[in-house]
Amino acid sequence: MRYVDHALYVALDEKDGYTASHCVRVADLAEALGRTLNIPEEDLRSLHDTGLVHDVGKIGIPDGVLLKHSHLDAHEWEIMKTHSARGERILMAQSIAGGAVLDAVIKAVRHHHEHFDGSGYPDGLAGEEIPFWSRILLVADSYDAMTTPRAYRRAISHDEAMEIMGREVGTRSDPLIFGAFDRMMQTSPLRALPMSLLESNRLMHD
Ligand SMILES: [Fe+2]
Repeated sequence: MRYVDHALYVALDEKDGYTASHCVRVADLAEALGRTLNIPEEDLRSLHDTGLVHDVGKIGIPDGVLLKHSHLDAHEWEIMKTHSARGERILMAQSIAGGAVLDAVIKAVRHHHEHFDGSGYPDGLAGEEIPFWSRILLVADSYDAMTTPRAYRRAISHDEAMEIMGREVGTRSDPLIFGAFDRMMQTSPLRALPMSLLESNRLMHD
């Protein structure tokens, strides 16, 4: 059974191909992390689907903000931060009858930018008030955002990303989940490519 309409992912891809490909990587990372955390196999597909649409609310963000090629100012950042609640709104309008699992998917999307110390958005939830899947998505999302190049900043290496994320344990991320991510990434094929390869990939596509 599916809890997310795949058309929502396609609509996001039409709006912003970068965000759509980011969502695929976050979905794969979240599923692998969920497996490491012993989430039952039957729930992993729903977690993967949640990753695929976690940023679907960006459909509602104006192109001038979403696709801006430089850092956002404070006002633009406030607009960008509305995407998680917009994603919840979009998913709630689906005609899929999903019961408790769909509720979990929708809640995970709303809260995927909550920080463990309560400093995130949209509701400032802290610790275990934050849905478990949202805490998983936050770790997967942070890793992919840092290890992927954008127009306004370079990608950083796996080691640099893990070091930064390690410093943010307990403030941004759940220590238990980051610990599992750290263990998983020692051997995971989802580990970001070494910088030398990233550079040559970029040259190949320039
Ligand atoms: Fe997001």
